[in-house]
Amino acid sequence: MKIFGVPIFPDQASTFAKDVDALYFFILAVCAFFALAVAFSVIYFGIKYHKRHDGEIGARIEGSLPLELMWSVIPTIIAMVMFGWGASVFYHIRRPPDEAMHIYAVGKQWMWKFQHLEGQREINELHIPSGRPIKITISSEDVIHSLYFPAFRTKTDAIPGRYTELWFEAQTPGKYHIFCAEYCGTNHSGMIGTVTVLEPPQYQAWLQGGGLEGSLAERGARLFNDLTCNTCHLDSGQGRGPSLKDIVGTTVKLQDGATVVVDEVYLRESILNSQAKIVEGFKPLMPTFQGLISEENLVALIEHVKSMSPKATTPAKPAEKK
Ligand code: CUA
Repeated sequence: MKIFGVPIFPDQASTFAKDVDALYFFILAVCAFFALAVAFSVIYFGIKYHKRHDGEIGARIEGSLPLELMWSVIPTIIAMVMFGWGASVFYHIRRPPDEAMHIYAVGKQWMWKFQHLEGQREINELHIPSGRPIKITISSEDVIHSLYFPAFRTKTDAIPGRYTELWFEAQTPGKYHIFCAEYCGTNHSGMIGTVTVLEPPQYQAWLQGGGLEGSLAERGARLFNDLTCNTCHLDSGQGRGPSLKDIVGTTVKLQDGATVVVDEVYLRESILNSQAKIVEGFKPLMPTFQGLISEENLVALIEHVKSMSPKATTPAKPAEKK
C-alpha cells in the first residue's frame, strides 16, 4: 500500500496475509473508535459541565444497572470477537500443511543462511516457488534472531539449541524483504535479505542451476562417513549404536524405561548431547558433538537419517523434479 508514492504497508504476498491484515485493521479500528470517543467525551463534558460560579455542587448520582451492564457486556463481546478471530488466524499460521516443501534456515550474526533439500545453499537470499506451501525449520548458531517476512505476514524466532518453524504460501512472484526482527547485536539492522518468489517452472530451472554438492541428504551421508558415524550405526543393528534404518517416526525405548518418538528434535539432541537419551540395550559410548558440528551440517545429517526412513509418514518431500 502506498500513499503519495511512499510505501507504508507491505504487499499482501501470502495466502494468509489478507486474514492477518483484516484482523489487524479490525483491532486498529476498534481501538481508534474508543480512543476518539473517550477523548471527545472528555473534552465535550469538560466544557459542558465546567464550573460556572463559586459554590456549585455536582448532582448526586447513585449508579445505573443498565449502564453498568452495557459497559461490561459490550466490551466483553468485542474482546471475545478479537480473541476468537485471533486464535483462528494464529492456529492457521502456526500449523504447516503436511505437503509443505521443506527448507532449513540458520540465523548467525549477521546473516540468514538457507538450505534446500535439493542441495542449494543461499545466504541472505531465498528462492521459492509460488503457489506452494513452504515450511522453514529455523535454528541459530549464536544468539536469538527472528526470521521475518513482512510481505508474508509471518515471523518466528531463531533460538540457539532448538528448532522452530514457520510456514507460508507465497502467491505472487516477485522480490520481498527478509528481516531479522530481534535485536541481535551491532549489525542487527543489516541482517536483511531478499526472498525471490518464482513461477514453478522458473523455480525448477533455478534448482537445476546449483546443488553441486548433491542434495542435503547426500551431503549428510558424506558427513556420516567423515564423522565415522557409520562404524557404530550399522544397518544390521549389530553395531555399537542402534541401527538408524527406518527409525524416523517410530517410538524407541530408552534405558530408563521412558520412550521417545524419533523426530528432528530427538535426532538433534542425540547428536549434540548423545548421553541425554540412551536407547535400551546400548551403552553410552557415543561422543558428544556439541560445538563440533555446525547447525548447517547438523541438518544435513538429520536429512540423511530421514532419508534412511523412506516409509516414515511425515518425511519432508523435496520438490518434484520434472
Ligand atoms: Cu539477527 Cu537481529
